[in-house]
Amino acid sequence: MSKTFAVIGDPIDHSLSPNIHSAAFKELNLDCSYIAYRIPKGELEEGIEALKKIKINGFNVTIPHKIEMMKYLDKLDESCSIIGAVNTVSNDDGILKGYNTDMDGFLEPFKKRSISIKNLKVLLLGAGGAARAIIAGFAKEHVQSITVANRTIENAKKVVEFSNKIGLNANAIKINEIGDSAKDYDIIVNATSVGLKNESSPISLDDINSKTIVYDIVYMPINTDFLKKAKEKGATIIYGYEMLLGQATRAFEIWHGIEAPYNAMKKALLGGT
Ligand code: ATR
Repeated sequence: MSKTFAVIGDPIDHSLSPNIHSAAFKELNLDCSYIAYRIPKGELEEGIEALKKIKINGFNVTIPHKIEMMKYLDKLDESCSIIGAVNTVSNDDGILKGYNTDMDGFLEPFKKRSISIKNLKVLLLGAGGAARAIIAGFAKEHVQSITVANRTIENAKKVVEFSNKIGLNANAIKINEIGDSAKDYDIIVNATSVGLKNESSPISLDDINSKTIVYDIVYMPINTDFLKKAKEKGATIIYGYEMLLGQATRAFEIWHGIEAPYNAMKKALLGGT
């Protein structure tokens, strides 16, 4: 029987998930479809009822519903209960189970490069929706410590509290106080939205070197100024699209129980490159 999947959020028309998943269905000859379904803030409950009525097999959840969606789940995977946000839901005869594949999706590029991040020092820029999944990932891999730098210090303090609670030693600073201290870290992650509109790097990377790992979770444009500056220093760079693919392949595997066709999904995202 044909299966249906969706991504819910608002705005949703620019979501890349329908393309990525449809490419996987085509590659593996699966009788499945994947749609983008706009559910405005405040209409989540009705939206989920509608999806249940059409017997949706699974769906991804994006802004602004990742936290509120927790209320409507019947079962929680551990990834989702730790982070307190959900991005993937499976529907088993009306029983909704939530997962958070952002955490493992974030870690996937390190695994692909066989980089062990245990005991490394991390600088995380940003303290918004994505930061918790990233912190949970770093905690799982036992990095040494994490410094959270954010424009609004109160938001940084909140995620630092979360980090310390799950056993990862963290501290908060204001992003404009980083100065030339980027060189003191092994891994630098941009989880702010700076770069989406082609802005220049949110911090100076002048003093980093080729041993630094620089990761941007902004995936559009692919080559942000932040990553360009890191490349100039010979750093190892990790692209935002890799995390996007990582979370999508994990969601695919939860829903279909088979290995995701990574290369076909990557090609759908990047075109011929
Ligand atoms: P997401 O869900 O993608 O993480 P978000 O929750 O809106 O998005 O968080 C965006 C992050 O980018 C926040 O850390 C935000 O900083 P504030 O907490 O101070 O708002 C950060 N951010 C957005 N615009 C920024 C800018 N121009 N300079 C620095 N940081 C910025």
